[in-house]
Amino acid sequence: MADVSLEQASPSFEGDVPPERVPEQYRLGPAFVPKGRYLDLDFMKRELDLVFPRTWLMACRLEELPSVGNYVEYRIGDRSVLVVRESKESIRAYHNACRHRGTRLATDRGRVGSIICPFHGWRWNLDGSIKLQLDAEEFVPRSEEDLGLQPVRCEQWEGFVFICMDDEAPPLLEYLSPIPDVVSPFGLGNMRIRWFKSTIAHCNWKTVLDGFLEGYHIPGTHPQLNRSTRDNLNPATMKEIDIRAWSPTSVYERHSMYQSLGVKRKQSNRLDKDPARRPGAGGDDPRAGIANAVEYIYEELRALETERSVRAAQILRETELPEGKSAGQVHLEIYRQLAIDEGLDWAEIEPKQWAAAGTAWHIFPNMIVLPNQGSSLVYRARPNGMDPDSSLFEVMCLEQVPVADYDKKIDVVPEFHEDYRQGDLGRILTQDLDNTENITVGMHSPSFDGHRLSTEQEMTIWNHHRVADRYLWD
Ligand code: FES
Ligand SMILES: [Fe+2]
Repeated sequence: MADVSLEQASPSFEGDVPPERVPEQYRLGPAFVPKGRYLDLDFMKRELDLVFPRTWLMACRLEELPSVGNYVEYRIGDRSVLVVRESKESIRAYHNACRHRGTRLATDRGRVGSIICPFHGWRWNLDGSIKLQLDAEEFVPRSEEDLGLQPVRCEQWEGFVFICMDDEAPPLLEYLSPIPDVVSPFGLGNMRIRWFKSTIAHCNWKTVLDGFLEGYHIPGTHPQLNRSTRDNLNPATMKEIDIRAWSPTSVYERHSMYQSLGVKRKQSNRLDKDPARRPGAGGDDPRAGIANAVEYIYEELRALETERSVRAAQILRETELPEGKSAGQVHLEIYRQLAIDEGLDWAEIEPKQWAAAGTAWHIFPNMIVLPNQGSSLVYRARPNGMDPDSSLFEVMCLEQVPVADYDKKIDVVPEFHEDYRQGDLGRILTQDLDNTENITVGMHSPSFDGHRLSTEQEMTIWNHHRVADRYLWD
């Protein structure tokens, strides 16, 4: 570890559990994560008992609950929670269990006038109070509270509805700190779901998230993103890898982020992702470089760029670049003008705000957000049943809508594809998911003991485990 300090390889925060409290087979080492934390059923059971029920979990977006009575069921491990729109202003969450004999009250998503148990027909108002107890006179009298649906904490941030099953947890905004501040310029609350797909990943729920928590894999997994022309998809040479990719991570008390800079820091003074300064990939014409990159991301990721930013890219191709302005800057100016003309509330985002927002944020435990102006990307992963090597992986593309459409109801229909290859997820996400089974098979090898992480580009992964230890062994 010639150039690496111990502090860099094992960052710590006040309130962390002392390492000796963690059983040896699960104890983190400097930039090292033992594989049992991914592969052992006992470890996953502990996560289901001690992490998920005590943290804030993103259950749905507000637009998934457009009308009074709309509900979404959120399942995690053996628990089920119902998130319900009680009124125009209020969203509530309840444990999804009948007070009579425990039956699950509603499944998946839908809309109801009142919540009706499918077994004996007891009913509840949307505020959780009991409405009908059939043959009530035959039952021992019980308080309203005892017969009412049991509430789960439910709070909102930027259009996301979070739930928390622990009364001791801090309020959502405090829990999310520092993310609300750095993400606020991007107006995720003014975005709506454009598409929402889910699939089964053949790996641990953390493995699939880990693949989106570092940019270190970009040269290996997505070599086309580093190529100088969009059509040349040959694997990058090592020389190109060395000069084109660098994605440092930053860790916080609970959450973490990485930021893809596109070029190695030592060879550039470019320290943030300011899109006005992104490198082009268009040969001699910087306009073509920007336009190619925008079009490629729109076609193959179907998020972060929009139909509007692609139109701006097409205009850019024909626009004379003014003295002293980069193609990236001019693209942003055209995009901005189109957005404003088309009724969007388009913020001026300062270079330092772009820098602070980074590329992707891990919201502990199981959500990732890529903040971006106009369109953002969200990932969520959960264990699939009791198999540590299988997970439910969901991708949500959010897109900013015109101010006039803020109250417009949309029909969100999540698509589920058991096989991600059938899900038309685009080249980039498909490449990421292609890795997952290989990682799982390889990790089971007796020759492999755990992840050896880059202290600069992969500490997001280590940080997840450090934070988890606070819940697992406190
Ligand atoms: S179990 Fe729900 S009404 Fe009987
Ligand atoms: Fe990737």
